[in-house]
Amino acid sequence: MSFIVTENCINCKYTDCADVCPVDAFYEGPNFLVIHPDECIDCALCPSQCPVGAIMEERDVPPEQRVFIRLNAELAETWPNISEKKSAPPDAEEWEGVSGKLQLLER
Ligand code: SF4
Ligand code: F3S
Repeated sequence: MSFIVTENCINCKYTDCADVCPVDAFYEGPNFLVIHPDECIDCALCPSQCPVGAIMEERDVPPEQRVFIRLNAELAETWPNISEKKSAPPDAEEWEGVSGKLQLLER
């Protein structure tokens, strides 16, 4: 079991989550972060740090977002590690809670 970054992170990418992870399990793409499922130790520190509630336990991911379970595992293999908070995109607030962002995911 692992924690999963889901759709609401796309284009928000606040990175507070990466700052608290004790095992540096986060990986960074252009407009999204993912968690490496083999590195996450299920400490449960990160979900409460995300301003947009994008992180959840794998068993809690709703059916329409199950695709993110595979995407976290896949993209964590190719994207660079991130272990500290950095500035969010300037338009991050405009993307909070917007639905249908999967199509905007950049690789
Ligand atoms: Fe890191 Fe803990 Fe979040 Fe897993 S649950 S990604 S170990 S902070
Ligand atoms: Fe994304 Fe939330 Fe982390 S927006 S980068 S999951 S703090």
